[in-house]
Amino acid sequence: MDIAVIGSNMVDLITYTSTMPKAGETLEAPDFALGCGGKGANQAVAAAKLGANVMMVSKVGEDLFAENTIRNLQQFGVDTQHVTVARGTSSGVAPIFVDDQSQNRILIIKGANARLTPADIDAAAEELKACRLLVLQLEIPLPTVYHAITFARQHGIQVILNPAPAVAGLDIDYACQCDFFMPNETELEILTGMPVSSDDEVLRAGQMLLGRGLKNLIITLGSRGSVWMQGDAVYRVEPVPVKAVDTSGAGDAFIGCFAHFLIQHGDIPRAMQSASAFAACSVTGRGTQRSYPDADAFHRFLTA
Ligand code: RIB
Ligand code: NA
Repeated sequence: MDIAVIGSNMVDLITYTSTMPKAGETLEAPDFALGCGGKGANQAVAAAKLGANVMMVSKVGEDLFAENTIRNLQQFGVDTQHVTVARGTSSGVAPIFVDDQSQNRILIIKGANARLTPADIDAAAEELKACRLLVLQLEIPLPTVYHAITFARQHGIQVILNPAPAVAGLDIDYACQCDFFMPNETELEILTGMPVSSDDEVLRAGQMLLGRGLKNLIITLGSRGSVWMQGDAVYRVEPVPVKAVDTSGAGDAFIGCFAHFLIQHGDIPRAMQSASAFAACSVTGRGTQRSYPDADAFHRFLTA
């Protein structure tokens, strides 16, 4: 295995609408789509679609969605032997609302994801030890995330921590043990309490976080590109201009693609450039995982 994702899976319930109902009001929305999502699963699928060997440690509920989620992961070649059922819970679901400007609003109901424990990591220890890179997000309990980081450190496995969604109480000492800490601008704002509307503000907030001892900070800025900060060095990647249709899961596309190329060639700027293009390609299609190109489609996008 190249990559292990210890994280969430969700069923995305995507409603396309420009108007949200007020209390007591019923409105008709023009369109709806059901998709497989969850930040962990999205990142796993993005890397797998590009050809990485990926395993997931994750929890599904005891419901109709579980089997579909596992089948979906397997269809992309993701190893699911450590995707297990949490009895008596529902699977994670994410009602998502996408407006005419292709902006998304996401609610998550963690369901089974809240039941992924340190013991689940220990149960997968043998397979995890054989991985080169661990990818983590924050849709599972924090103690599980911390346990995973400690496990990776003990076994010399590289770690990417994507602090999404932002959790104000995240222990930065654990983030400092990770090789890459990768928030988006909103998460950076919540973690630092600093403004992030201009590039200068982003860099200032980034410097303050780095100052707490992070090794590599990569901030994704949506249509403004991304930036890698290490010590005093700053490396920027310009955005790839596209006509956005649905930006849901674009951040996950970036991380999954970055993970794949980090393992492939270890060249961080090149991995960021690929990730930026992969995420741009994903926003041209509706939905999360379903909008991620596979290696062939990605090649066509790059050469178009
Ligand atoms: O990052 C996008 C993802 O966030 C969606 O797929 C949804 O499931 C939520 O987890
Ligand atoms: Na998309």
